[in-house]
Amino acid sequence: MRIFLIGFMGSGKTYWGRLWAANHGLDFFDLDAVIEAEEGRSISAIFEEKGEDYFRVTESRLLKNFAFKNNFLMACGGGTPCYYDNMQWMIENGTTLFLSASPKFLAERMEGDSSRPLLKAMSPVELLAFIEQKLVEREPFYYRAKRVLKVDRESQESLSSIKFDQFMKDA
Ligand code: S3P
Repeated sequence: MRIFLIGFMGSGKTYWGRLWAANHGLDFFDLDAVIEAEEGRSISAIFEEKGEDYFRVTESRLLKNFAFKNNFLMACGGGTPCYYDNMQWMIENGTTLFLSASPKFLAERMEGDSSRPLLKAMSPVELLAFIEQKLVEREPFYYRAKRVLKVDRESQESLSSIKFDQFMKDA
């Protein structure tokens, strides 16, 4: 079993992914953390020192290394499905789940976030506009996922108790 969680920054991929993996006896990986470990520096430092193109190439290469692993759940980066053939590769090599949320929900979660290079130094108004614009570009990729979970419409309780195997089978 290989599950890929996709969705915009701030949708809770890492938070929920870690919990669901633990509940289902799966290994958990955060693709950003995999990249940081391989590169020996933070995502922000990679963007600053090597540029986004280098980051995207590395992201795609390290994602595809997981062809050699099994029984895991991976929280992808917000842009992962939108570059190269990453989304197609995930569809062919596992099960994909899109954590969807409204721009307002995402903006509230990311206000004041200084750790994400794409969001640096944005005012709340700029942030909301940026998210709306990026979602238009990215949703065609995200909606190729096998399942969509609207995280802003579900209670914390129902999210934390998802019977993941059943949920994915019902697709
Ligand atoms: C990005 C999202 C980030 C990280 C990088 C780029 C994006 O991951 O990969 O900063 O393009 O949306 P998270 O979604 O885990 O924050």
